[in-house]
Parts: sequence; structure tokens; C-alpha cells
Amino acid sequence: MPICAASVRLEVIVLLEAILIGVPMFELLRRPRRLRKNAAIRNMVRETVLTKNDLVMPIFVNANIEGESPISAMPGISQWGIQALDQEVELLLERGINQTLVFGLPEEKDEEGSDTWHENGITQRAVRRIKEKFPEMYVITDVCFCEYTSHGHCGVVAKDGKLLNDLTLRNLQKQVVSHAEAGADMVAPSGMIDGMIVAIRDGLDDANFHDVALMSYAVKYASAFYGPFREAVDSAPQFGDRQTYQMDPANKREALIEAGLDFAEGADVLMVKPALSYLDIIQDLKREFDAPIACYNVSGEYSMIKAAAEKGWIDEARVRREALLSMKRAGADIIITYFAKDIALEL
Ligand code: PBG
Repeated sequence: MPICAASVRLEVIVLLEAILIGVPMFELLRRPRRLRKNAAIRNMVRETVLTKNDLVMPIFVNANIEGESPISAMPGISQWGIQALDQEVELLLERGINQTLVFGLPEEKDEEGSDTWHENGITQRAVRRIKEKFPEMYVITDVCFCEYTSHGHCGVVAKDGKLLNDLTLRNLQKQVVSHAEAGADMVAPSGMIDGMIVAIRDGLDDANFHDVALMSYAVKYASAFYGPFREAVDSAPQFGDRQTYQMDPANKREALIEAGLDFAEGADVLMVKPALSYLDIIQDLKREFDAPIACYNVSGEYSMIKAAAEKGWIDEARVRREALLSMKRAGADIIITYFAKDIALEL
């Protein structure tokens, strides 16, 4: 390899600088390192700061268990029996996490997922209990059918296996009104059904729940990162997959169409899901819409970090902080994450 004259010159300069310690060899106007000199200045110029207010902790409530049942594919996360829920909610509040997203696992599944609109459905019981005992906890409910249907799809399915869009909308209305009656502060439909936002807003308003907020899983990709979650709530589809309602990970402009529809239909908050592989989408939505943007740091993203940390390959505390920070930096106002409970101790 020929010796490059420029690099030799640089070597000499570096040597000179070392000899003459502290005497700069170049008159550089901008030296960004000045603002990284010590913690005080780094703290002053930091652009993005993660706080407890940004984080929502999901909770899994299972009608079939008592106590706590750890989810093996999500180390540190459990399903809770309805009474055992209290200890988890109390712990979250103690640590300053005042917002939770509730997922229910019903006693029985059926074709339609009818537990979702029963007064004594598992989600309704959980919400009522949390709100009675801990009124300061802000309760968001996941609104879907896949955990409640025998076939594992997110709505009414026809004989040929197709998901029936508009019949599903009727059931969604029943479900959200019932969540609101139980005391939910916000409902979060996650099924990617066309028209779900307008149907849900209408349903809530007709029942006089004007102040129940609506967070749309507006841009939800058909992602393999949901793997551990499907074990957690036993919701893997029994046939087919979710590609006819969830989005193709290859698409970006379509994300703006989806978000635009939901915004126009009255969604208060727009969500992108998953988060880590979709930071560009979070940024696009933030730029495009005057609405708070949420993202869902999903089960696979959580479990990958946990698994690598268990093997000693990465430093969990630093990696999870960096991951969550990247979501906020991309534009997320709200981050739904299984890390909320633990990272709260460091915020
Ligand atoms: C659907 C729903 C899913 C998740 C949240 N709500 C899964 C799916 O569409 O299969 C995924 C959450 C996660 O992976 O952490 N009710």
C-alpha cells in the first residue's frame, strides 16, 4: 500500500500537539467536544430527557389464575389474577408510573369474543377494581378480540376465514362502551379494522362518554416482534395470519394514510407499533400530525434485550435506556413499554 502523504502529515501534527500539550494546531471555530467536557455541560445541552410521565406499563390480567404467573418468554413480566393485581398496581404507583394499559385473558373464549362486552368480562372487572382501589391510576384498555376469540383473530370471522370488517365495528362499539362503564380513562383499539375510530367515537358519544379518550393503534405492522406477547395472552391465530389487517413492514406512505384517517375520525392519540424498527414512522407522524404520538415497545423488543442481558452480552440498564430514548428522540410523546416498572427506579 502506498504511503499517503496526507496521513503522514497528520501523524506529525498529532505528535507535535502531544509535545506542545494544549496548544491547538488548528484554528477551529467549532469544537463540539467543548460541550461534552463534563457532566454539568452535558446535562445542560441534553436535547431529550426520558421521564416517568412518558411511560405506560402494560398489565396482563388472567381470569383463570390466582396470584402471579410469570410469562417465560418475557422475563420479569407476569399475568395476574384479579386480586393479585393490587400488588402490581400499588408497586407501579409507588415507583411513579401512573398509567397502565390493561390486557385481559378471559375465562372462556368463543367465536365472537363476547367476554369483551360483558359487564363482568375480565377487562371490566380489572378496570373496576383498579379504579376503585387506586383512582389515581390512569387506566387505558386494549380494545381487541384476538385474546378472546377461539380462532385468535381480531374480530368476526366468516366461514371462509375472512375477517368481516363492518360486523366487527358493531362489536367494537359494545366493547368500548362496556370498558367506559367500568371506568376506563382511555380506550386503545388495536385491531386495525377500517373505520374503527369513527365507530368507537360514535359509540362512546352516544352513550355519553364524551370524555373517554381514544388512542388508536393507527399504524400497526404485521410484525414478528409480537411473538412473546402471543404466548403471554395465548392469542396466536389458529389459521392464517394478520396480514390482511395489519400493515406491511415495507410501507411508509401507507402509514400516513392510516394515521390521517384515524386523526380525521377523531383519534386523540396516534400510535406506531412496534417501535424500534419503526423510528422513521414515529418521526413522520410527529411531523405530520398535531396530535400526541405514542409508540409501543413490543414484547419481542423487550425479550431480545432481556435475553442478551441474561447471557451477559449487553448491559441491560444502558441498552433499555438507549432504546427508549431513541423512541422519544424520534418524536414519541408516550411510550408503552414493559421496561416501565424497572426503569422508573432510575428516572
Ligand atoms: C392485539 C395486540 C397485540 C399486541 C398488543 N395488542 C398483538 C398482535 O397483534 O398480535 C402486541 C404487544 C406486544 O407484542 O408486546 N390485541
